Amino acid sequence: MSESVHVPVLLHEVLDLLRPQPDKVYIDGTLGGGGHTEALCRRGAKVIAFDRDVEALNRTEKRLKGALTETPFPVRFVHADYRFFAEALDMLEIEKIDGVLLDLGLSSDQLTDTQRGFSFDSDGELDMRFDTSEGLTAHEFLATLPEARIADTIYRFGEERHSRRIARKIVELREKGALLQTARQLAEVVRQCVPKNWKNPIDPATRTFQALRIAVNDELGALQATLGQLPERMKPGGVTAVISFHSLEDRIVKTAFRDCRYWKVLTPKPMTASEEELAQNPRARSAKLRGAERLTEPQS
Ligand SMILES: C[S@@+](CC[C@H](N)C(=O)[O-])C[C@H]1O[C@@H](n2cnc3c(N)ncnc32)[C@H](O)[C@@H]1O
Repeated sequence: MSESVHVPVLLHEVLDLLRPQPDKVYIDGTLGGGGHTEALCRRGAKVIAFDRDVEALNRTEKRLKGALTETPFPVRFVHADYRFFAEALDMLEIEKIDGVLLDLGLSSDQLTDTQRGFSFDSDGELDMRFDTSEGLTAHEFLATLPEARIADTIYRFGEERHSRRIARKIVELREKGALLQTARQLAEVVRQCVPKNWKNPIDPATRTFQALRIAVNDELGALQATLGQLPERMKPGGVTAVISFHSLEDRIVKTAFRDCRYWKVLTPKPMTASEEELAQNPRARSAKLRGAERLTEPQS
């Protein structure tokens, strides 16, 4: 199990919003390499940390057990989708929490692991699941779903104008018995269908990969379901902070926080990375952070 290479994004901004203090209890729904959780714990907070990726969870548990000296140990690790946070709180007999962080999407550790199928140049199976113990892999998704569903997924979650052409090509190959087994094969097919944009240096396969990952992990479903349940389990004055990397995610967060019965918006405009952070961590470029405080009394 190698070391984590993931650098937490917008760390100072997250801490400013969440205001960790001794004995406050937070949920980190997306533990990853544990950068945000570690910073919360160093300020005395306790964290219930979720990750669907058991490898990430085990690696980070090991790291944090070496790095944090607080007793009792301040993190509870939960291998689950964060959408099941209420069940976990019930099991731990915690009624309400002081704050939540969701740092959406995938980590640099997952991206650089060539066995997971997240990066274009990987020859491992085209998997893309955060939790490799359940659900369809991206390979199975492309091998079984109707052409229209593949095209809609790539269009909707990837905002890819050439989605129909890509889906056609995938299904044409599948009808000939040539299934896409690896991420590299998929990237090559997409590149044949999407004209190169000389003004935009990103790989033409980027949007299709993003779309498949979002679909395979039902990422928008988890976000939507969780934001709907959070108000009930948060203390008045508690803060929810969400870092998103995709316009559809950001729209879900913005819409949920607009519900003024429950939330006071702390970020009228999303916070983004400073030039200084971008120079250190280019991955922060598309990150948007929104925060909202749980109101004391439901407003009618
Ligand atoms: C961007 S990384 C988080 C990085 C982390 N904040 C850090 O400082 O290292 C996102 C992590 O969340 C996990 N994840 C994504 N969606 C999830 C979900 N619905 N439930 C639980 N974990 C999820 C991924 O497996 C990944 O490890």
